[in-house]
Amino acid sequence: MLPRVYSFQSSKQETYDTWTIEFQPKNGNDGFSFAPGQFNMVYGFGVGEVPISISGDPAKPERLVHTIRAVGEVTKALCSLKKADEVMIRGPYGTHWPVEDAVGCDVVIVTGGVGLPPLRPAIYHLLSNREKYGRIVLLYGARTPQDMVYTTELKRWRARFDVDVETTVDTAKPGWHGNVGVVTTLIPRASFDPLHAKAFICGPEIMTRFTIPEFQKRGVTTQNIFVSMERNMKCGVGLCGHCQLGSMFVCKDGPVFRYDRVQPLLSKREI
Ligand SMILES: Cc1cc2nc3c(=O)[nH]c(=O)nc-3n(C[C@H](O)[C@H](O)[C@H](O)COP(=O)(O)OP(=O)(O)OC[C@H]3O[C@@H](n4cnc5c(N)ncnc54)[C@H](O)[C@@H]3O)c2cc1C
Ligand code: FES
Repeated sequence: MLPRVYSFQSSKQETYDTWTIEFQPKNGNDGFSFAPGQFNMVYGFGVGEVPISISGDPAKPERLVHTIRAVGEVTKALCSLKKADEVMIRGPYGTHWPVEDAVGCDVVIVTGGVGLPPLRPAIYHLLSNREKYGRIVLLYGARTPQDMVYTTELKRWRARFDVDVETTVDTAKPGWHGNVGVVTTLIPRASFDPLHAKAFICGPEIMTRFTIPEFQKRGVTTQNIFVSMERNMKCGVGLCGHCQLGSMFVCKDGPVFRYDRVQPLLSKREI
């Protein structure tokens, strides 16, 4: 629960409203170990604290990286940080993508918009342990090409012969030569073995709800489908009840859930 002081190190603008920011601990760097899919509570001085997924490489704990979309007061303040500005960070919190259970299986990742940052650590892990997995498929959708994050990295992953990367946009502009349509349209033609596949899904809840039936149609069982959920959070550790979802707390029992465990609750707002 004890926050530590971190200072802003560098940032990269991903889209018109999203930045990837690297932080460094103020006093010493003993590394920040985390599992892919976990999040931190990040506090901007004088504005407030928000949950943000860790988007860096779990094999490089010396680099703490977050990708933040400026939607409101706190996230706008975080995206405006300058060199040496300080924040308080506590974490890592929550459950993670089951990359160990997926060993020997195909892994199919479906994500939309800023749903990719919480999955990027899992992608790094899969790629640096490539020999342990079957097919790796990444299906990424965004509203427009300008809403896509990590475009350079996507090109690099697409150039690899051992990963299938497909991107799509809802609305294309001149110059876009890729797919057009919602990301779910990519699932029927994706190449994987449904009986030996794990599906990792992170994006707007509406996207998640339409993605799951597509996997079920392909024959993937609910026990092999994992979803990341977002709810408003305050404590981040299962104390305040702010993120409660039925009998579960998204901060503590999630944000990554096996789909069959949250199936009846998926469309409910927090109480
Ligand atoms: C586990 C978890 C991980 C997250 N990871 C990331 C991440 O990696 N990067 C990132 O940019 N954001 C992430 N978020 C969302 C982020 O926490 C919110 O965008 C943030 O709390 C908004 O705070 P604010 O003060 O800037 O905006 P507010 O003033 O609170 O809200 C501004 C607007 O954003 C909307 N909003 C608020 N919270 C959310 C939310 N959770 N999802 C969608 N819209 C919201 C509000 O409805 C409002 O319209 C995550 C949330 C959770 C629960
Ligand atoms: S944020 Fe307090 S219980 Fe989840």
